[in-house]
Amino acid sequence: MMAAVTAAGLPPGTGEAGQPDGTEHPGRGISGSGRPAGKPTLKLVLLGMGCSAAWLASVLIGGSFDPGVQIHRVALAAHILALVLSFGAILVLDWVGLLWLLGRRDVHDTRRLDSAAQPLIWGGLAILLISGALLHPDLSSPPTQIKLVSILVLMLNGLVLTKTMKQLHQLPPETLFTAMAAGLRARLLAALCISQTCWWTSVLVGLLNSTLRRWTGT
Ligand code: HEM
Repeated sequence: MMAAVTAAGLPPGTGEAGQPDGTEHPGRGISGSGRPAGKPTLKLVLLGMGCSAAWLASVLIGGSFDPGVQIHRVALAAHILALVLSFGAILVLDWVGLLWLLGRRDVHDTRRLDSAAQPLIWGGLAILLISGALLHPDLSSPPTQIKLVSILVLMLNGLVLTKTMKQLHQLPPETLFTAMAAGLRARLLAALCISQTCWWTSVLVGLLNSTLRRWTGT
């Protein structure tokens, strides 16, 4: 990225055609506290409240309603299909992100993939919440509690990550991770680590619960 900026004869922080390039001084542009607040933040808060309400509804319904064996079977099939959809898309997206970190992809590869993957991720998550509610989770079990909290965290983190990715995608294609503003870099890394930890926790606890249920025959 720095090479491109030099070639264009523009100082770091201005980028081509006034585009931010991620090297801005903290406090202005996309990397600092001077980024435009207001509408996008309000939208994020409203989306966060919507996700939290959907999560709470799923947990409360799941904890209080036992739909019986037949519905449980159908819900489990839907749960696994939604898992493939959502988690599969997350893994591919994070893999391309890792290739970009290693300098093997440009930043706009992640943009194209990100916009294609978003409906799969959020659609899959919606189905996971609905089908999970029909699986009658044992809310008194600590691993299940950890799984459910992980799901809430991964959804809220996903919203923040979507906003951070938008900032990332305003950068020139050849932008290197190491040339980005430290604030944006730290936010991106933290969000990706939280995302992977929560997804893997949810998947592994889900598998553990299912396996235990089959073993004990309950
Ligand atoms: C990111 C969201 C979620 C992920 C990644 C996830 C993952 C999984 C996985 C991998 C399984 C094992 C499926 C199998 O092979 O049998 C599972 C089962 C289960 N999930 Fe989820 N899940 C999610 C959301 C939820 C939610 C929101 C609930 C409840 C409110 C829930 C409740 C359950 C229950 C009760 C089982 C055990 C089913 C059984 O065998 O009786 N899950 N989940």
